[in-house]
Amino acid sequence: MKEIIRAPHSGFCFGVRQAIQTAMDVDNKSRTYSCGPLIHNRMVTDDLAEKGINVISSLCEAEEGSAVIVRSHGEGRAFYVQAEERKLKVIDATCPFVTRIHELVSQASSEGEYIVIVGDGSHPEVRGIKGWCTDRAVTLASEADVRSWISALTEHEISELSSDGIFMVAQTTILQETFDEVAQALASEGLDVKARNTICSATKERQDGCRDTAEISDAMVVIGDKNSSNTRKLAEISQKHCRNTFFIENIEDLPLKEMQKYNRIGVAAGASTPENAIKEVITIMSDNITDNNLSMEDFMEDIEKSLRLPRSGELVTGTVHSVSDKEIIVNLGCKKDGVIPLDEITIEGDAKLTDLFHEGDEIDAKVLKTDDGDGTILLSRKKLEASEHWKEINQAYEDKSLIEVEVVKQVNGGVIAVYKEVSGFIPLSQLSDRFVEDSSEFVGQTLTVKVSRVDERRGKAVFSHKAYLNEEHQKALKEVWEKISVDDIVEGTVMRFTDYGAFVDIGGIDGLLHISEISWGKLKHPQEVLSIGQKITVKVLSMNEEKGKISLGLKQTVPEPWSVIDDNYHVGDIVKGKVVQIKEYGCFVELEPGLDGLVHISEVRHRRVANINDEISQGEEVNAKILDIDKDRRRISLSIKATLDPEEEAAADAARAAAEEAPAEEAVPAEEAPAEEAAPAEEVPAEETATTEEDK
Ligand code: F3S
Repeated sequence: MKEIIRAPHSGFCFGVRQAIQTAMDVDNKSRTYSCGPLIHNRMVTDDLAEKGINVISSLCEAEEGSAVIVRSHGEGRAFYVQAEERKLKVIDATCPFVTRIHELVSQASSEGEYIVIVGDGSHPEVRGIKGWCTDRAVTLASEADVRSWISALTEHEISELSSDGIFMVAQTTILQETFDEVAQALASEGLDVKARNTICSATKERQDGCRDTAEISDAMVVIGDKNSSNTRKLAEISQKHCRNTFFIENIEDLPLKEMQKYNRIGVAAGASTPENAIKEVITIMSDNITDNNLSMEDFMEDIEKSLRLPRSGELVTGTVHSVSDKEIIVNLGCKKDGVIPLDEITIEGDAKLTDLFHEGDEIDAKVLKTDDGDGTILLSRKKLEASEHWKEINQAYEDKSLIEVEVVKQVNGGVIAVYKEVSGFIPLSQLSDRFVEDSSEFVGQTLTVKVSRVDERRGKAVFSHKAYLNEEHQKALKEVWEKISVDDIVEGTVMRFTDYGAFVDIGGIDGLLHISEISWGKLKHPQEVLSIGQKITVKVLSMNEEKGKISLGLKQTVPEPWSVIDDNYHVGDIVKGKVVQIKEYGCFVELEPGLDGLVHISEVRHRRVANINDEISQGEEVNAKILDIDKDRRRISLSIKATLDPEEEAAADAARAAAEEAPAEEAVPAEEAPAEEAAPAEEVPAEETATTEEDK
């Protein structure tokens, strides 16, 4: 038969209860501060903070005109002076027992007595007490403290102490033994000590109750904040009288499995432990540790589950208990039920809650509040979905994968885009791979994006459509690089010109078509034969993927003229061409790009020509007869006169002369031209009849 015993006087003392009530009664909580935690219990201080009373560490943090609660530990005199200077309202919740100590030390100090405070010098209550003394005060916590303090004093100081006397008080929560130990040590030094036992009776009663309970228990559970000095002392007392002592802060720390071993369990709690925390521990233990029907593992699991209330933000799974048009009640397998109000559920169209959910369904949700004010746990399906969507966004960020978002509105510097239940931002610069001046065109569009930043805690996500486009472009480029090889003939579009050639887009990559690779003939500028946007077929001459460079050739898509000369040109053929260059000894006629022939001056007319410029002009289209094709030296000899009838030529000359009505004496007949001015074909220097390429 198992038994649970509550130690007498456990829990809130009078002073703590009064301080909490004082704080609860404050009207303007948002303008009220507690200088240090009101009590050493996080559950209570968190609750107060939720109600608006925040903790500050110094008065400087409180704005002028606000109020400051003095906690039950009390404060020194300087605190009140500073509060007045800063025009702060003081709400004094100092425990009356502590106030009494302030009065005692203040009085004794004014009478010249030396003050000894028995306690922990770092405890706020002791610092407060010291704040009501003159500088003739010391804090001692043991016989050893007394010895070292005395040994540091001068003879003169000791004789002063002996004559003035010592006034001794105690921190309200110290052990009676400590107080006695210090008193005896001072007396043994021959000092006259006026001891006022200011240990709070509540503390003594609590400590006695704890001790008595510990003595008769197999195990002790001491409940309270680990920062609370009075609770720590209770745990010490308990440990002294019961070695199976468990010091826990709340129900979550309770080692239920371990407690199974003991038949009689004592429960004690510190002065700052709320009543509900004590009751929770006792109830759970009495409800559970005597149940032996289950296996220990199942038993523990069930208990753990039923004990633990889900926390805010936790994702839970429960069973639908009931459904109405306004809410779903969910059994979460713990002490409280969960409720999901209608507005926390995503419903499409005109569907009703009762159509979508049924009693006994398993349902997932996110905890919004562990207590919605009606004793139930407030749940949300929407927040759960948003959590899942954040998870997906986080995953997309980690994986660098893509998601689809819908642009919903324009904002400064970009747009807001939503991914399911989550809103994110796309900066202007990340909307496109081109310059975007006005983002309105994107509103309403669905964009594929990469997640460039995500901070779920702050609810912030940043997306980039540009990153997606760039990635796609890179993919396309890679495909092109993989698809094409040197010597391939590919289709391209002329994109832009430079002085040294043209850039041609061959499916996402711009290749360079150098001016020398455009034509077999000579060009001064690519525009002579190409235009922007023109579709052309080019040959891939070289590729350098590392540098991202491709060289293209256009002329290579047609045969080099000399390589097919035999197919297209024969001696004796009459061909048409354009005069591209005029020299003293003749002119060059282009038959096609890259294939020029020389018409020697003697082959221009049947009559003798003194100056070829009088007969032929650059750019003129002429007919000529092929006299010779020298494939080795790549030379073609042409004759224009061979295509002319001599009589017709003479007649034409005469007609021209008449038309010009030139005086006979000024005219210089062709046949009278000095022989030395004529440059016979055979006299043309070899270098002047060299390849047309070099001449030009
Ligand atoms: Fe006061 Fe005693 Fe509590 S001094 S604060 S009633 S422990």
